[in-house]
Amino acid sequence: MKEHIFIGAAWPYANGPLHLGTLAGCLLPADIFGKFNRMAGNDVLMVSGSDEHGTPITLTAEKEGKSPKEIADRYNAQHVKNIEELGITFENFSRTSNDFHKKVVQDFFLRLYENGYIYKKSMLSPYCEHCGRFLPDRYVEGICPYCGGEARGDQCDKCGKTLDPSELIDPKCKICGNAPVMKETEHLFFKLSAFEDKLLKWLEDKNYWKDNVIKFTRNWIKGGLKDRAITRDLEWGVEVPLDGFKNKRLYVWFEAVIGYLSASKEWAEKTGEPEKWKEWWEGDAKHYYFLAKDNIPFHTIIWPAMLMGHGGLNLPYDVPANEYLTFSGEQFSKSRGVGIWIPDVLKKFDADVIRYYLSINMPEKHDTDWNWEDFVAKNNNELVGTYGNFIHRVITFTQKNFGEVPPSGELKDEDKKILEEIEKTSREVGEAIKACHFKEGIKRLIKLAQTGNQYMNENAPWKLIKEDRERCATVLHICLRIVKALAVCSAPYMPHSANKIWHMLGYEDDIEKQEWEEGIKDLKKARIEKPLPLFKKLEVGELEEKEPFSKLDLRIAKIEKVREHPSADKLYVLDIDVGELGKRRIVAGIKPWYEKEQLQDRKIVIVANLKPAGIRGVRSNGMLLAADDGTPSLLLPNGEVGEQVTVEGIEPQPADVVDFKEFTKIEMKIKDGMAEYKGKILADGKGAVKPDREVEDGSGIH
Ligand code: MF3
Ligand code: ZN
Repeated sequence: MKEHIFIGAAWPYANGPLHLGTLAGCLLPADIFGKFNRMAGNDVLMVSGSDEHGTPITLTAEKEGKSPKEIADRYNAQHVKNIEELGITFENFSRTSNDFHKKVVQDFFLRLYENGYIYKKSMLSPYCEHCGRFLPDRYVEGICPYCGGEARGDQCDKCGKTLDPSELIDPKCKICGNAPVMKETEHLFFKLSAFEDKLLKWLEDKNYWKDNVIKFTRNWIKGGLKDRAITRDLEWGVEVPLDGFKNKRLYVWFEAVIGYLSASKEWAEKTGEPEKWKEWWEGDAKHYYFLAKDNIPFHTIIWPAMLMGHGGLNLPYDVPANEYLTFSGEQFSKSRGVGIWIPDVLKKFDADVIRYYLSINMPEKHDTDWNWEDFVAKNNNELVGTYGNFIHRVITFTQKNFGEVPPSGELKDEDKKILEEIEKTSREVGEAIKACHFKEGIKRLIKLAQTGNQYMNENAPWKLIKEDRERCATVLHICLRIVKALAVCSAPYMPHSANKIWHMLGYEDDIEKQEWEEGIKDLKKARIEKPLPLFKKLEVGELEEKEPFSKLDLRIAKIEKVREHPSADKLYVLDIDVGELGKRRIVAGIKPWYEKEQLQDRKIVIVANLKPAGIRGVRSNGMLLAADDGTPSLLLPNGEVGEQVTVEGIEPQPADVVDFKEFTKIEMKIKDGMAEYKGKILADGKGAVKPDREVEDGSGIH
């Protein structure tokens, strides 16, 4: 039966790059769930967006001396790009700073106000006399009265309790460190206390929730619900649509959760069916929210209470909150700078490898740790060794011996068992994902690949091809059925490689557009092409930042011809020989200091892989190195033409090209008459490279 599934993924603050914790705890599980449900034929509306208001943004802005808008724009753009690179599909990824959202928030607010759930009250708030301002939320830090951990004004990181800043023990101003005074200010409050019974009643049938989520939620309510201030003394945020609150803004959490609704409405508007959001918010759709545990109370108590107060909108069906992903045991936190940033990780690894590791290591039931050695091991053993290897073997062998999907002959019992195994896997992976047991699903897939490897080893098609071609065809057909099932069932987890496998099997469309059931259906007759590599082996050493110097390709070259530059009087055009790298032309700015004859037939050192550049109309394929104390002095090599110049302890691993900016960051200089980098001398096989005259110590080389 077709269902309407709404998926909300907690909105990341646009105050820094995304980190792996957000991906593991929230974006990835939401995406796996969304992709599966679309394939299973359900109508999915999956939304999220950038959380762009509140003190997380303003604090970052103040620290950088930028406006909050600039910060939000920068990180929203980066997040959108990363989400795309990771292959995460949203129906709408919006922003809380857009006018559409603000309007929906203000309407929502007014509805709660009219229904009597919002009232004004004077309260004492921390005020810093030194800075001359109130200290909302993150502007004040202190000790949590519940657990004794370090806490911020609105929440304790350690125990997860939401706080009122007045509760903090030993509060300090985040900006200047002084102790604030308590000062009277008028705010608007949401009558959360009015929902205690209703919430408990609503939670009665939520025994299918994760244990920790339901327990945490029930305990929280039983401890007594306090009304919550929903305005702040800030300038950045959604305006309060009531007179007398011009200088205040709505509390970021109050308006951000309404984003789930506004992004749904905005999506409907954009698709040209402005009423369509109602299919998810008013019918009997199921609402799933994906988030990490520090966000639980906002999604299981406050947001549901707001929805109840509003009336007529669907409440969460499940909130399968994840525990934390730690990094070498430490909790991720953008504001405290611990974490692994997605843009960096994406530079080094394919999205699917990251997705795989986080799926198999997802913090579903308890915290899990991101560990680089384990990452490499799982990549090499499971992804490359078992999964990728099976697919590669099958496709390569089929391509070579049949060139197409071979027909299946009569099936033996062992073949039938495999087909049963395929059906079972497809069903079990589907059930696991449906129940939000994502780890279980991906493990099941690796198991099927293992079964495939075993089946192939036992049936040895490489022998059969010589003895019994028909049986060989059948065995390969069965193997290809496994490959197909792996492709379809892995699509929610690893969409990029799933698509590659799909295309290797001769399909041309997009795998995410397939029905889930397609995984257990027979193959179509198609040509099989040579396989594309799916995953690469990794080495632990690769994970370390490359020493920038290792990217350079420094070579000894010989000047064969010197000419004046046609349109610049300081430049020579040099035709040089770089041995094994061949001959090439470079442009050098040394004419005022060197006569042509001094250069003819001379050996120099060049950066051979510098990005080619046009210099006053002549293309230069490299650059010669000279020390410079105001006057350039060419570096004198000792070795053969074409030979590399290196630094002890840094193995050259030249990049294809190094751009000029990168090059300028690599600081080589003269020390004791020799060229050096980071205190080690530059040398070729015959000894140290030296300037051709005495040069002042400390002079740069470029
Ligand atoms: N920005 C919050 C965080 O990173 C999550 C907000 S979820 C929302 O912790 F639904 F309120 F937007
Ligand atoms: Zn202060």
